[in-house]
Amino acid sequence: MYKLNDGQIIPEVGFGTYKLNGSKGAQSIVSAVNNGYRMLDTAYNYENEGAVGHAIANVSIPRTELTVTSKLPGRYYHYDDAIERIQESLYRAHLDYFDLYLLHWPNPKRDMYVEAWNALIDAQKFGLVKSIGVCNFLPEHLDRLEKETGVVPVVNQIELHPYFNQKDMRKYDSEHNIVTMDWSPLGRASAVLKDPTLVELAKKYNKSVGQLILRWEHQLDTLPIPKSTHSSRQLDNIDIFDFKISDEDMQRINGLTKVDGRVKNQDPAEYEEF
Ligand SMILES: NC(=O)c1ccc[n+]([C@@H]2O[C@H](COP(=O)([O-])OP(=O)(O)OC[C@H]3O[C@@H](n4cnc5c(N)ncnc54)[C@H](OP(=O)(O)O)[C@@H]3O)[C@@H](O)[C@H]2O)c1
Repeated sequence: MYKLNDGQIIPEVGFGTYKLNGSKGAQSIVSAVNNGYRMLDTAYNYENEGAVGHAIANVSIPRTELTVTSKLPGRYYHYDDAIERIQESLYRAHLDYFDLYLLHWPNPKRDMYVEAWNALIDAQKFGLVKSIGVCNFLPEHLDRLEKETGVVPVVNQIELHPYFNQKDMRKYDSEHNIVTMDWSPLGRASAVLKDPTLVELAKKYNKSVGQLILRWEHQLDTLPIPKSTHSSRQLDNIDIFDFKISDEDMQRINGLTKVDGRVKNQDPAEYEEF
């Protein structure tokens, strides 16, 4: 478990739900919870907060044992819009509160993220959300939040996998007591899963390449949120706690990072999403 800078506790691995929509999506999410996941990552823009809520209503795990995360899209960063959308997110999910609510992208050219952050601070005071954080924030964005509001996010959810290992961002986050959460932790099933070094090391540890990558992310003190529709892969992706990658092999995996290693070239300094 990770202890957040506001005192809340969250699991060490979460379940990504991007593209899990409708009844098939809800079935995959039910399967993930039954397979042991206790943290679910959704977003207003995934249009599946309903599927997540439906899944939560159809598992035997009590709500209090689940950590449910959602995210505010950039088109609702005006204060009043933000509060309304968080309420709307909750209606969609049939939930009374989110455990974690994140700003989805900084969209720095619009310069609205501080206003949206003030709305999240109030949403936490109103009891709509337990913890608040961000995604895709760079140091200059995080510095501004701290300077202008005094409230440091608990989590920064960023793209992180062996081809883009975010060494500098991880250092910043850990120095500021922010948990780094990894999106596309398997590189969204891209070439990284066939990387010869990873294939070789996975054989050495008698694990799948996915398990090796997720264990590497765990040993970097980050929190991966892999997504899978397959029950067997869901089980694999959470079964990473019975082996340890040596320091030398950690360095080999660290060495695979590339300057242009992002899956879709979404640099938060430039890329915008609303
Ligand atoms: N904050 C943000 O801006 C942001 C951006 C992107 C994503 N996210 C979040 O991060 C989550 C995870 O990222 P992601 O969905 O982009 O990618 P990912 O988890 O890295 O990869 C998912 C893909 O990998 C496949 N897969 C899963 N486990 C596997 C395994 N053990 N072996 C081989 N293939 C495997 C899945 O296929 P099957 O389903 O067929 O198994 C799927 O195609 C998302 O679902 C979303 O919740 C956040």
